[in-house]
Amino acid sequence: MKVMITGGTGLIGSACCKHFADKGWEVVAVDNNTRGVLFGKDGSNRQNVEEDDVFSRDGVELVEADVRDEKVMKEIVERVDAIVHLAAQPSHPKSLEIPLEDFQINAWGTLQLLELARQHNHDIPFAFMSTNKVYGDYPNYFNYRVVGRRYEPVGFESFDETLPIDRCGHTPFGCSKAAADLYAQEYGINYGMKTATFRGGCLTGKNSRAVELHGYLPYIVRCGLTGKHYNVYGGGYRVRDQIHSSDVAGVIYSFVDRPKKNQIGLYGTPYNLGGERINSVSIFETIDAIEAKTGKKLDWSEAAERESDHIWWISDMGRFKADYPNWKMTKDLDFIFNEIIEYYVKREKLKVEVKDMAYFKRVRV
Ligand SMILES: NC(=O)c1ccc[n+]([C@@H]2O[C@H](COP(=O)([O-])OP(=O)(O)OC[C@H]3O[C@@H](n4cnc5c(N)ncnc54)[C@H](O)[C@@H]3O)[C@@H](O)[C@H]2O)c1
Repeated sequence: MKVMITGGTGLIGSACCKHFADKGWEVVAVDNNTRGVLFGKDGSNRQNVEEDDVFSRDGVELVEADVRDEKVMKEIVERVDAIVHLAAQPSHPKSLEIPLEDFQINAWGTLQLLELARQHNHDIPFAFMSTNKVYGDYPNYFNYRVVGRRYEPVGFESFDETLPIDRCGHTPFGCSKAAADLYAQEYGINYGMKTATFRGGCLTGKNSRAVELHGYLPYIVRCGLTGKHYNVYGGGYRVRDQIHSSDVAGVIYSFVDRPKKNQIGLYGTPYNLGGERINSVSIFETIDAIEAKTGKKLDWSEAAERESDHIWWISDMGRFKADYPNWKMTKDLDFIFNEIIEYYVKREKLKVEVKDMAYFKRVRV
C-alpha cells in the first residue's frame, strides 16, 4: 500500500510519514518547503529532512513539488492508495499579509487535489487536515472567568463540531481552510469519496519549526531557553489544548485504515482533533512550567490581541472517539514539554538540565 502525504516534511507530515512507514506503507511525501519561504530559515522544514531518519528509510520517497502543480500531482494521485493532505499556509496572522497566496495554497490547492482524486482515483481515502480556526472567533462569544492561572468556561466544558462556523471573524486563513474543509466534506457527500476533515487545535512536537507566527508551544519554549523576548498576545489566561504530532498521525491513520460513513451513510465527516482538557494549558501555566523545568525565567510582556484569536479552546473529540474507539492519546503534557525542551537544549548546545520531568503530574493532582 502507498500513501501520498502532502506537506510531508512538516510537523504533522513527518509524523505521518513515520506512522505509515512503521505500518508497512510506502510513502510519497510531497513538499516544496513553502514554509521556509513564508517564515525564513528558522521556519524551514528542511531541518526535518536532515534530522529525521524517516526521510532516509527505504520506501519513503520525497517529491519536491507544489501541491498546485496539476501534472505532478495527477501522476502521484494515480499511483497511491490513500491521500493525506496536510500542505498549507498554516498561520492565521500571516494570512492577513498574503490573503491571495493563502487562498491559492489552502483552498485552491485542496480543491484541485480533491478533483484530481475524483477523476483519477475515486475510491481511495482522502484525509484533509483542517483547523479549529474554521470556527473563527466564535468561541470568544462565550463567557469565561479566571480560575487560578487560566480562563475556565462558564456553563460548558469544550467545543464539539456543532459550533457554528459563520457570523464571526476568521482571518483569511480561517476562510481558506473553511472553504477547503467544506469542499472535502462536499466530495464525500456528493461524489461519494472517502473523505474526512480533521479540525486541529494546537498540534505540537519537536519537529515544529516554530516561529512567532506559527507553532506557539515550541516557540515559547525556545524563547525561554534562549532568552529571547516573548510577546503574550491578548493576555496569559488564554487556554489551548496540545496534542503531540505522533497522536495526530495515529488519528489520521485510523481513518485511512478504515474510512467511516456517518449515521446517514455519507462520507465527509468533520472531526475536532486536539489534546482535550487533560492536555490543556494556559499561557501563564506554560510560563510556569518552562521556568520549573528549565530554571530559566521567560522574558515576556503583554501585546495587543491578535485578529480573531481564540480566547479559549479545548476540543471535544467525542465524535472521533465514538467512530474510532481503539485510538488513544499517548503523549501527555510532561512528555510534550520535556521533548521540546530537550530538543532545543541539544540543538542550541545549551547548558541547561531539564528538571521536574513530571511537573504537570505533580501540580495537577
Ligand atoms: N500546527 C498546528 O498547530 C496546526 C493546527 C491546526 C491545523 N493545522 C494544519 O495541519 C497541517 C499540517 O500543519 P503543520 O503544523 O505540520 O505545518 P507545517 O508548516 O510544519 O507543514 C506544512 C507543510 O506544507 C508545505 N507546503 C505548504 N504549501 C505547499 C505547497 N503549495 N506545495 C507543497 N508543499 C507545501 C510546507 O512547506 C510545510 O512543510 C496544515 O494543514 C495546518 O493548517 C496545524
